Amino acid sequence: MADLLDEAKRPKVKTHINIGGDVFLECDKSLMAEVFKDITDNAVQAIRAKHAPGETEKGEIVISGAQEKGRYKISFKDNGTGVPPNKLENIFDPGVTTKNKEFNSGLGLANCKKVITKHGGNIYAENNGDGDGATIIIELPYKIISIK
Ligand SMILES: Nc1ncnc2c1ncn2[C@@H]1O[C@H](COP(=O)(O)OP(=O)(O)OP(=O)(O)O)[C@@H](O)[C@H]1O
Ligand SMILES: [Mg+2]
Repeated sequence: MADLLDEAKRPKVKTHINIGGDVFLECDKSLMAEVFKDITDNAVQAIRAKHAPGETEKGEIVISGAQEKGRYKISFKDNGTGVPPNKLENIFDPGVTTKNKEFNSGLGLANCKKVITKHGGNIYAENNGDGDGATIIIELPYKIISIK
């Protein structure tokens, strides 16, 4: 997981990864790498949309991983714009985008949901409150995890 999450880091935006040790998860590595990248891409875009040009250094992504109630939970917290509250549920539907439709298909999170569901997990979004960005949360079945 540490390697995969490292690959999802984006230049110019500080990214902290705190997954508590070496976590090994049985998954399709390239599909999971795509999921993590789609999520951090969205975070960077939300950070760019919130902060003035040239101030993306104020942006921050915190990736945390922990065992919780029989699941392994990975959260991606950013300090971008946050998700419009009425869209929190449907951003995982194909074709839902608040960005320029010429350049964005709105398929990123739909693909994430497909991949995570295939792995027996679930994915959802929350806002951090007070306009301070969003958190995308993935929960995967604990039984496929081994932690060294
Ligand atoms: N971290 C985030 N902060 C704020 N809004 C987000 C975040 N992640 C996703 N969203 C919202 O969810 C919508 C859907 O995201 P998704 O990745 O599926 O599509 P997209 O980024 O618009 O287009 P694509 O990924 O296909 O280029 C986005 O348009 C945006 O409104
Ligand atoms: Mg996207």
